[in-house]
Amino acid sequence: MSATIDVLGELAKPEHRQDPYPFLHWLRENDPVHRTRCGCYLLSSYDDVAFALRQTGTFAPGTPATAQNHPGYARLRAAIARELTPARVLRMRPRILEHLGNVFDDLGPRLVAGETVDLHAEVSVPLTRHVFADLSGLISRLVEAHDDEPLITLLWTTGYESTVSGIDCAVLAFLAHPGHRSWCGDDPAKVQRFLDEALRHDGVVLCTPVPRIASADVELGGVTIPAGASVRMLIAAANRDPRAFRDPDTFDPARDPRRTLSTGNCCGTTLGRATMAHVLTGLRQRFPTLVAAAEPAWSSTSGTRRAVEKLPARLV
Ligand code: HEM
Repeated sequence: MSATIDVLGELAKPEHRQDPYPFLHWLRENDPVHRTRCGCYLLSSYDDVAFALRQTGTFAPGTPATAQNHPGYARLRAAIARELTPARVLRMRPRILEHLGNVFDDLGPRLVAGETVDLHAEVSVPLTRHVFADLSGLISRLVEAHDDEPLITLLWTTGYESTVSGIDCAVLAFLAHPGHRSWCGDDPAKVQRFLDEALRHDGVVLCTPVPRIASADVELGGVTIPAGASVRMLIAAANRDPRAFRDPDTFDPARDPRRTLSTGNCCGTTLGRATMAHVLTGLRQRFPTLVAAAEPAWSSTSGTRRAVEKLPARLV
């Protein structure tokens, strides 16, 4: 097949925002190395996506704007990763907890009074804003050292949006799978496994935001991807590949999380995951009987990300 179908356009349609998985299953089974009308290749099988994420020499990142290799990209990405080490993220813990405590203090009385609150607008967005405001010195340092403000801003926006969406994903899983709340309890290792499964099962990034450029001809799934072609990975399809995960459509936090591909080669994943973990543990401790008050509302997207617009919840 076929440039006949506009995959990212399909994924952006309202009917696929809430549940893109039937379409992604179909694509992976029928056209796992899909060539789009503009000559970009979309990979959807677990093995191909994992291979392309690992082979950073053959599939080097380009920028979304130009889809060409950007000389400063790898350097900047490494600089962000160096700033957001696990040790540094650990040092941020008290501040993140303080911000989260303030957000929950504001919500608590309203929830207790029976109000329905939008956890996207009232938890994910303000908490991420506070966390990123605390990091503002970091971005100034990067701008001074790398003198490429547009690229830094682009990378930073990716991190901000991913963190909002990551928190939304944690909250969605908390609301959707109440039976598993007691399974993870306050055990940090189990909380991480719950989050890994949330990101695998119903993650927020459908497709890698930054395209790769093939540095040589590569054959995948019987299709030759020519040197110079732009390649993107459908993480959400790979994470539901039945060849990699038993019962991939079932949410099962006890499964081995090592195979999931949810954050690709993200350089800020330690901070993102830590923030998600604080939110999940905080919700369980402060609002254990929280339930969804309505279906979440999804915003229109480019087809690469599923962004939540509203996450209504209330206490029972
Ligand atoms: C739970 C939260 C997060 C999730 C789910 C997430 C997910 C992702 C994914 C799937 C990618 C694409 C990876 C690839 O193409 O190989 C990505 C890239 C990226 N993320 Fe994250 N991310 C999160 C948090 C963050 C944070 C906190 C930052 C920075 C402060 C960040 C910075 C970036 C940047 C700069 C890129 C593009 C550059 C690259 O690493 O190749 N992310 N993220």
